Amino acid sequence: MHAMRIPTDHPLLLRIVDDLATHGWSQQNIFLPESLTRELAQECRKRAAEGELEPAGIGRGPAQEVREGIRGDRIQWLEPGQAECCDNYLEIMDSLRLALNQGLFLGLEDFESHFAQYPPGAFYLRHVDRFRDDDKRMVSAVLYLNDAWRPEHGGQLRMYLKNEVECDVEPIGGCLVVFLSGEFPHEVLPATRDRLSLTGWFRRRGNDLFA
Ligand code: OGA
Ligand code: MN
Repeated sequence: MHAMRIPTDHPLLLRIVDDLATHGWSQQNIFLPESLTRELAQECRKRAAEGELEPAGIGRGPAQEVREGIRGDRIQWLEPGQAECCDNYLEIMDSLRLALNQGLFLGLEDFESHFAQYPPGAFYLRHVDRFRDDDKRMVSAVLYLNDAWRPEHGGQLRMYLKNEVECDVEPIGGCLVVFLSGEFPHEVLPATRDRLSLTGWFRRRGNDLFA
């Protein structure tokens, strides 16, 4: 089923491509139809309630470890074919992948994505999304799934932009933030309520033999 396939020259996608080309990042406050955001939020809450989300690790491969002093979220990776709303989301992100390739020649080959739940008080300290031993992640994309989020709930994504400019993004349902993975340090501030998102990365093919 390709119900959510959108053309790569859709104005929303072109705006993101243009923002990335000029600023290296983009914030789209209304990226998804409200109904799809609601379904994704429900799916995330269901999985959390069923105990399917697990403490996120730091780093890659065997060196990966869980350190709540660095990040306190619980995650589950998306697989195609598990839920229609997730498949619709992956379909839309694949359209964005194609648009990024057409506009920026990034050679993005796939998109990996996980649900994330930050319980109250959880945070993710300042970091960059690209691993030192793995530079396949090119573009990060975070979609927020929170209903009626207010600034006093905290949980902002703090982006450290160029020239010591900081920008705080409220994790409001339906908002998508996209940025070049290697360029911008960022952090997740603690919140007073559960903070849900779908976080993902567009990747290019690795240039080592084992990728
Ligand atoms: C991450 C991350 C940002 C956010 O998972 O690497 O930085 O706003 N998430 O959830
Ligand atoms: Mn990050």
